[in-house]
Amino acid sequence: RSVAVLSGGLSHERDVSLRSGRRLSAALRSVGMFVDEWDTDASLLTHLTEQRPDAVVVALHGGEGENGSIQTVLEMLELPFVGADSHACRRAWDKPGAKGEIGRSGLTTPDWVVLPHTTFRELGAQAVLDAMVARLGLPLMLKPDQGGSALGAQVVREAAELPAAMVGCLAYGDTVLAEQLIEGVEVAVTVVDSANGPQALPAVEIVPEGGVYDYTARYTAGLTNFHTPARLDPKAATAVAELAVSAHRLLGLRDVSRTDAIVDENGTVHFLEVNVSPGLTETSLLPMATEAAGRSLGEIYAELVDRAIA
Ligand code: DAL
Ligand code: MG
Repeated sequence: RSVAVLSGGLSHERDVSLRSGRRLSAALRSVGMFVDEWDTDASLLTHLTEQRPDAVVVALHGGEGENGSIQTVLEMLELPFVGADSHACRRAWDKPGAKGEIGRSGLTTPDWVVLPHTTFRELGAQAVLDAMVARLGLPLMLKPDQGGSALGAQVVREAAELPAAMVGCLAYGDTVLAEQLIEGVEVAVTVVDSANGPQALPAVEIVPEGGVYDYTARYTAGLTNFHTPARLDPKAATAVAELAVSAHRLLGLRDVSRTDAIVDENGTVHFLEVNVSPGLTETSLLPMATEAAGRSLGEIYAELVDRAIA
C-alpha cells in the first residue's frame, strides 16, 4: 500500500504539522506501510494526479488542512483519505458554529459572543468591549473563531487588558470568539472510529506549568505536565468520554478527532472545540492517549488507512 502523508502547508501551524507528519510517517513505516511524506505546496494537485497514492493522510493543521479545502480536492480526485470529509471539516473548523451545534444538542459549552473586526470599526471599540463584558462578565478567553494551537488565544482577567488582547487575537484572524473562561480541569479526549463505532481513548489531563496552555506550553517539552488517564472521578471521566463521542457523531466526523473540554468543580463538562486533525508531535495529546490505551500510533492509523481504502 502506498500512503501519502500531507504535512507542512502554509498555515500558522506549518511547523507543528511538519512535526506531526514526520512522526506519523515513521509510525506508519514501522507497521510496514510504504509512506511518501509530502510538504504541501502548490504542486500538490499535480503530485496527487500523477502519483495517485492508494490513500492520503492529512497531517496538516490549520487553514486549508482543516477547513475542508484539501479534503475537497481529495474528494474531487476521488482519492481515499483518512479523516473527516470536507463538509464535516468546515463544521468543526468554525468554532462558534460547532459550539452552537453542541449547545443546541443539550451539551454544555461556555457562553460566548462572536465579534468580527468590522464590529469595532463600525460601532466604536470601547462601546463594544463594554457591551461584551456586560454580557459575559470576566474572566474571558478570546480566540480567533478559526485557528489552532492556541495561536492568538488570550486570557483576559481585567477589563483593562481587553484592547491589547483583542489586537493580539485579531492578528491571527478577522473574527474573535469571546468565551466565558471556565476554571477547572482541562482535558483532551481522542475519539477513534472502530468496527464498533467511535470509541473514546483515555482522557489526557493538561496542567501547564505557567497556568496557560499556550503555543509555547504546547510544543516545548517539560512546560506542561500531563496525566493520562485524567485524574477525574468515574462520573466525570464517563461524561468527558461521552461528550467527545457525541461531538464526533454530531458534527459528522470520521476516523479520528480530539475534543478539548474543561471539567468544572461541580463535575460539569464544558465543550471547547473539536479538532479534525489532532497534533501528532512528541508533545501532542493524541499519541499520549493511544499509548495509554496500549496501542501504537502506527497500528491505529494503519487501520484507518485500510478502512479508507476498503
Ligand atoms: N491544532 C493542533 C495541531 C492540535 O489540535 O493538536
Ligand atoms: Mg484546536
